[in-house]
Amino acid sequence: MNPPRHFNLLARLLHWSMAVAILAMLFIGAAMVVSLQHREQLLDLHRPLGLAILLLAIVRLANRLRNAPPPLPQDLPRIQVFMAKASHWILYGLMLAMPVIGWAMLSAGAYPVVVFDGFNLPAILPHSAVMYGILRPLHGVLGYLLFFTILGHLGAALFHAWVRRDEVFGQMAKGE
Ligand code: HEM
Ligand code: HEM
Repeated sequence: MNPPRHFNLLARLLHWSMAVAILAMLFIGAAMVVSLQHREQLLDLHRPLGLAILLLAIVRLANRLRNAPPPLPQDLPRIQVFMAKASHWILYGLMLAMPVIGWAMLSAGAYPVVVFDGFNLPAILPHSAVMYGILRPLHGVLGYLLFFTILGHLGAALFHAWVRRDEVFGQMAKGE
C-alpha cells in the first residue's frame, strides 16, 4: 500500500484543537500561580481542561500507533529526521505526563481533584508530603520543557513552510 500523503482527519483535528488547548494551559498555569485575585477561577479551568487533554492524548496516541504518518521528505538531513521524530515523542510524552502529574500531585497533597462542582476524581497516590514535594516542582519544570519544545516545534514547522517550502506543513494542515 502507498504511504499516506497527509495525517488522517482525526489526527489533524486533534493536533490543532489540542495545540490551542495546551498553549492555553501553559498560560493559565503560569497566570494562576502569580495571581491572587483570579487563582481560584483559573484553577477551576486548569483542572478539567488538563484532564480533557489527557483523554484526548490517549485517543490521539492510539490513532497515531494504528495509522502510519506520512513520510518526511526524502532529502531531509538525517539529523533533522531524528530531531523531528524525537521532538514528536517528547511532545506525546509531555501531553500525557503533565496531566497525570497534576492529578498525582493533588492526590499526594490530599487536595480534592475537582473536575467540576460535585464531580471529583479519586486520588491516584496516597497522601505524602514527600511525593507532593517532588511532583509539584516537576509539574513546573516539565511545563517549561513543554513550552520550549513547542517553540522549537513551531520554528521547525515554519522553517518547512517558509524556507524549505516542502510538503511537511501541508501534511498536518490539509487533507486529500
Ligand atoms: C503552535 C503551532 C503548531 C504548528 C504550526 C504545528 C505544526 C505541525 C506540523 C506541520 C506537523 C507535521 C509534521 C510532520 O509531518 O512530521 C506537526 C506534527 C505534530 N505536532 Fe504540531 N504544531 C503546532 C503545535 C503543536 C503543539 C502545541 C503540540 C503538542 C504539545 C504539537 C504536537 C505535534 C505532534 C506530536 C506531531 C506529530 C504528529 C502526530 O503524531 O500528531 N504541535 N505539527
Ligand atoms: C496539559 C496539561 C497541563 C499543563 C500544560 C499544565 C501546566 C501548568 C503550569 C505551567 C503550571 C504553573 C507551574 C509553576 O509555575 O510552577 C501549573 C500549575 C498547576 N497545575 Fe497544571 N498543567 C496541566 C495539567 C494539570 C492537571 C490535569 C491538574 C490537576 C488535576 C493540574 C494542577 C495544577 C495545579 C494545582 C497547579 C498550581 C499549584 C500551585 O499553585 O501550587 N495541572 N500547571
